[in-house]
Amino acid sequence: MHSRIIGTGHYVPSNVITNNDLAQIMPTSDEWITERTGIKERRYFTPGEDTVSSMSAKACRMALKNAGITEKDIGLIVMATITSEYYFPGSGVLLQRELGIPGIPAMDIKMQCSGFIYALSIADQFIRSGTYKNVLVVGAEIQSNAIEHSERGRNIAVIFGDGAGAVVLQATNDENHRVLSTHLHSDGTYAEELVMKHPGSVLKDRITHEMLDDGTMLPYMNGPVVFKHAVTRFAEVIDEALTANDLVSSDIDLLIPHQANLRISEFIREKFGMPESKVFNNIQKYGNTTAASIPIALSEAVQEGRLKPGDLLCLAAFGSGFTWASALIRW
Ligand code: UT7
Repeated sequence: MHSRIIGTGHYVPSNVITNNDLAQIMPTSDEWITERTGIKERRYFTPGEDTVSSMSAKACRMALKNAGITEKDIGLIVMATITSEYYFPGSGVLLQRELGIPGIPAMDIKMQCSGFIYALSIADQFIRSGTYKNVLVVGAEIQSNAIEHSERGRNIAVIFGDGAGAVVLQATNDENHRVLSTHLHSDGTYAEELVMKHPGSVLKDRITHEMLDDGTMLPYMNGPVVFKHAVTRFAEVIDEALTANDLVSSDIDLLIPHQANLRISEFIREKFGMPESKVFNNIQKYGNTTAASIPIALSEAVQEGRLKPGDLLCLAAFGSGFTWASALIRW
């Protein structure tokens, strides 16, 4: 038994925030953001309208429609997010409620920018074990309300955006169209290099006035350190996936890297000697949407006809934790 992606979908909020919009409210510029990240604009959620689960439901309905099945056919929801509506419970159960399929398991995976590939891997294991036939694998985030639009927060503020993406993974016996393998890694040594510390369970009091003032309730990133590790780990984990399947980089028809920074994608593309046409990027439009970036990009790649049956698709991610992961898929 194997698993296969039979439908993809995505949703991004309608509120477009350009680099120039950000430059109006904090010390930055379109030139700096474009040169360092490749990002031109991102989407911010509309409070009262968009939530992580409502955006996910829209992405899931699109994926289900494209798959030609309905909510009732789903046996499991695996939901990757680090920005759930509530501290607990997770967003998976809220998505389940919104889709109207009570009773099935709906789990949250908190693995930051690698979250979608972790979720895909978990879904793949459940399908290969014969436990579930159809699984919704989702990545969704609302980052824009945990951003400080100031000099202190600007390296983070210019990067992140909101959105959701989903795939339907289905059991198959077809050797020619399936998930070939997934590869997962983490190294907690670097946990504090990209972190949102509070409200955590470390302190005597979960929430204090001090943490509101000192910024520790907002994400912190040591950008250059993350960048340095990212380029190494992306390359390693892509190599690992290729080696595991007796393939080489020129066999890849489409690489969809987690949309962290266009410079990172370019670095990886050049390292593997791939033409631009084989690497999919949409960070220019959406920024970094953490666990949502790969499924949004995959859904857009499918819409644009960038994948044909039999193509070799490679997904790769790196993020906070540090965590990193890859998947090879015969489309
Ligand atoms: O998705 C999870 C994984 N995340 C990543 O992979 C992100 C990896 N890191 C990066 O993409 C880059 O480190 C950033 C884009 C975040 C930052 O770019 P950088 O080239 O590493 O800049 P830096 O942090 O070293 O800062 C360089 C300068 C500093 O000024 P000084 O000290 O040289 O005067 C910053 O204060 O740029 C300044 N700066 C900014 N200036 C204008 C930092 N952010 C901004 C900004 N606008 N938004």
